[in-house]
Amino acid sequence: MNDREKLNALLAKIEVANSAYHERDAPEITDADYDALRREAEAILAEHPEWREDAKALSQVGGKPAAGFKKMTHRTPMLSLDNVFNAEEFEDFVARIRRFLGLKNEALEFVAEPKMDGLSISLTYEHRKFARAATRGDGLVGEDVTANILTLESLPRELPKDAPDFIEIRGEVYMTKADFLALNASQERQFANPRNAAAGSLRQLDASITAQRKLSLFAYAQGETSVSVAQTHWDYLDTLRRWGFAVNPLSRLVKEDGAEDFQTGMGAQRAELPYDIDGVVYKVNDLALQNRLGFVGRAPRWAVAWKFPAEKASTVLEDIEIQVGRTGALTPRARLKPVNVGGVLVTYATLHNEDEIARKGVRIGDVVELQRAGDVIPQILGVLKRGEGQPFKFPDHCPVCGSLAVRVDDDVVRRCTGGLICPAQIVERLIHFCSRGAFDIEGMGEKTVREFHDAGLLRSAADIFALPVHEAEIAGREGWGEVSAAKLSAAIAARREIGLARFIFALGIRRIGENNAKLLARHYGSYAHWKQAMLAAQMVGSDARLELGSISGIGPAIAQDLLAFFAEEHNLATLARLEAELRVQDEQAAAGIDSPLAGKVMVFTGTLSMARPEAKARAEALGAKVTESVSKKTDFVVVGEDAGSKAKKAVELGVTILTEPQFREMAGL
Ligand code: IVH
Repeated sequence: MNDREKLNALLAKIEVANSAYHERDAPEITDADYDALRREAEAILAEHPEWREDAKALSQVGGKPAAGFKKMTHRTPMLSLDNVFNAEEFEDFVARIRRFLGLKNEALEFVAEPKMDGLSISLTYEHRKFARAATRGDGLVGEDVTANILTLESLPRELPKDAPDFIEIRGEVYMTKADFLALNASQERQFANPRNAAAGSLRQLDASITAQRKLSLFAYAQGETSVSVAQTHWDYLDTLRRWGFAVNPLSRLVKEDGAEDFQTGMGAQRAELPYDIDGVVYKVNDLALQNRLGFVGRAPRWAVAWKFPAEKASTVLEDIEIQVGRTGALTPRARLKPVNVGGVLVTYATLHNEDEIARKGVRIGDVVELQRAGDVIPQILGVLKRGEGQPFKFPDHCPVCGSLAVRVDDDVVRRCTGGLICPAQIVERLIHFCSRGAFDIEGMGEKTVREFHDAGLLRSAADIFALPVHEAEIAGREGWGEVSAAKLSAAIAARREIGLARFIFALGIRRIGENNAKLLARHYGSYAHWKQAMLAAQMVGSDARLELGSISGIGPAIAQDLLAFFAEEHNLATLARLEAELRVQDEQAAAGIDSPLAGKVMVFTGTLSMARPEAKARAEALGAKVTESVSKKTDFVVVGEDAGSKAKKAVELGVTILTEPQFREMAGL
């Protein structure tokens, strides 16, 4: 698999895991495996930042709010934490903070708190009275669980006089190990672990059920507040304690070099604690520094979760299954004799590719060692005991359509050559076409696509738009009815207009993820222009081919894939049919954030009072693009002290020069 495919595979798994965990309270993989997927994806993104935009699953914090609860929009988003797994990674985290803030010698102080394995909650108090509670949901919109939270005895219903008029307090609802065991013993339905039990108990539409379950609460974070109540996180926790909240008594203030000892100590204590923890959260103590550090994506720069390492396990490799993806990639995965690792059953592990199987020498029937550590998970480390099996022969034919499967050049991935005669590829492409970043057709998820494909209703993407014609037939299918069929027709009709970038992405051309699709859309502007250029570019040496090669971000391999797509007669036929069904809108200029810096190209030079990474992050948060060198395209050059050649160049080119105070004013700092 190449990196892009690896990334796509990881993102797909992360998305499935996100929804299993957050929407159904029924995780299918362990937290450690989940973290590992994320880290593997992050590692690829570190090499290919241009793919970041495609990685929505990574910034998706929780699940969609469950239907049935009233939705509640968080005034400030409820975000997540980045993870580290060892001292070195923790040091990197600290170093990043120091660099961001431009710190010289002074040691940073952190509050170390056990990382509770429960579910996060936001508690709002108005005029010192408990007003409402919401779950995290997707981070922006959660579920209103006020009635359920009111069943917690430990919840302060009122705050003392020194509390602000409006304050939102965040924390974790959890179930103790003892309460979890008692609950499982008392009923047929078995929860897999205390976290699921807590989530399942809190998210009951009937709050009287919540009342029968024993739930506990630790408060640990700030949401919005009308008046700030502390200058350090430590004092904030103290204030919460004074107001009657349960605050974890094991939390401590540590200096940056004291974290490792704390981590070791907590790890040793973990098994004896009355509740599950899966690591320690380290938060910068000084709230003014927290504020300056801010957030990137889904997580604060000022905090990190240092997770405990995961265990190893051994089990029998029962089979090596080959899956066929959208671009025909044959991907092996290990089916394992289910093994309990850290309380969760693991049944599958990745085997990456053909070479990896050979390198590890794993054979069906072997006893293999698994690792659920930070990098690649569940990962097979190697063979512990040889079984009866023969060396695994990777198929040279597609297991789904029987076409030849080949490795081209030095690609590690073997691909089915069946193209659109391969049902696996057809289905995967259709799934992709309907998926969120593409046509985003509600109700056309993986299951429905497969169902319609198998029923002969769907062969190519254009067939999707003919589905409303078959509405009556669909309504008559098992599991469907008039209402759901009509809803689907409406969802399809709503997507007959689509932006160019989404459209290009939806086509599922190899290596054209959301980001590359955007680059193409921005460059060519309209569907007609793009298509015409792609057809003209088929000719070697044509202007159109040179133009394609000149688009920044579109390398030769990507260009090759695009041309290959347009060289296929059946793709052109599909496009022609889609053209008849759709209106592809021209690409608009990137929608600007409401800031004088939005969409501007900026360069910082010289010494500023804030460290360069902070300045850059501030500008980018307001929609600016920060570059290193001054050119005619530069809109602003912000000059600090001792600015040199860049400032000079700006003058020469007539680029607007800003002083730091001017920049701060524009940025609202
Ligand atoms: S602070 C912006 N502190 O871990 C930072 N989170 O992986 C907000 N968690 O969503 C989180 N114990 O549900 C924080 N002492 C603690 C925590 C904690 C558990 C959970 C929380 C959060 C998740 C992030």
